Amino acid sequence: MPKNKFWYIALILCFVLILSGCSYHFGDAFSSDVSMGDSSSSESSSKPKESSSNAASDETSDSSSEEETASSEAEEQQSSEEESESSSGEQASSQQSSESSESSESSSAVEGNVVGKTSKGYDIVVKDGITYIDGAVIVNKTYTLPKDYAPGFTGGTYKAFQVMQADAKKQGIKLEIISGFRSYQTQQNTYNGWVKQYGKEYADTISARPGHSEHQSGLAMDVNSLKFAFADTKEGIWLAENCWKYGFIIRYPEGKEDITGYKYEPWHIRYLGKELAKKVYDSGLCLEEYFGITSEYK
Ligand code: DAL
Ligand code: ZN
Repeated sequence: MPKNKFWYIALILCFVLILSGCSYHFGDAFSSDVSMGDSSSSESSSKPKESSSNAASDETSDSSSEEETASSEAEEQQSSEEESESSSGEQASSQQSSESSESSESSSAVEGNVVGKTSKGYDIVVKDGITYIDGAVIVNKTYTLPKDYAPGFTGGTYKAFQVMQADAKKQGIKLEIISGFRSYQTQQNTYNGWVKQYGKEYADTISARPGHSEHQSGLAMDVNSLKFAFADTKEGIWLAENCWKYGFIIRYPEGKEDITGYKYEPWHIRYLGKELAKKVYDSGLCLEEYFGITSEYK
């Protein structure tokens, strides 16, 4: 009998142990469900932000179209590395700025010091270290931005992109910003990266030196892809044919490399406002030709 009692107690103890083991497993299952739920919900709330706003990444570009092999892969890799490296702070400030600013980038006059005239007779106006022609901010190899100029997206650029993106979507075209506003420092890092990889001479054909990038103006962005092949995709074709309707131009067109100073960038669009963008598009000229200005490092 005592022996039986012993086994009876042992049996109860085993039962209790098994039950408590099960409850731990249930506990785990519940907590992992909850955390999965949490992570997926935070992902879904952060993803649209990422895709709809600007990815404030560094500049990247492909190498020559004929040699789109190992080097372009390396560049792509650099692109994504730089993208993650570059700050979300820039992204946030771009978003914020774009939300609050109205379109100021039109052909309206800017009051500043007239420092000269272009070969086409436009006044070159400088205000707070920024050059304007016919109301448009001018940034290229000749004209710089102040080092501390860091506005995020400006002058209705981001809103114009959103409108264009929504219209494109209705036509089955998906447009995404892969690089938006970039600070002077970010551009410096980017440019230095290209110099390291390809040498200064080549880097200067694909990447602006710090202070010379339109990305620092908050009026430019790279869309979808940094491959030359983007030009022949339905998105690239759509962008080239339609972006002017929303106030953008393809800033570094094919065949204008000697004038803009950069290789063809079918992904880089510059906001000018609808009026000026239409005029530049209709002219078939690049911005330098249109205004009669140079793009050369001094
Ligand atoms: N790739 C363009 C020129 C830039 O770096 O701003
Ligand atoms: Zn660009």
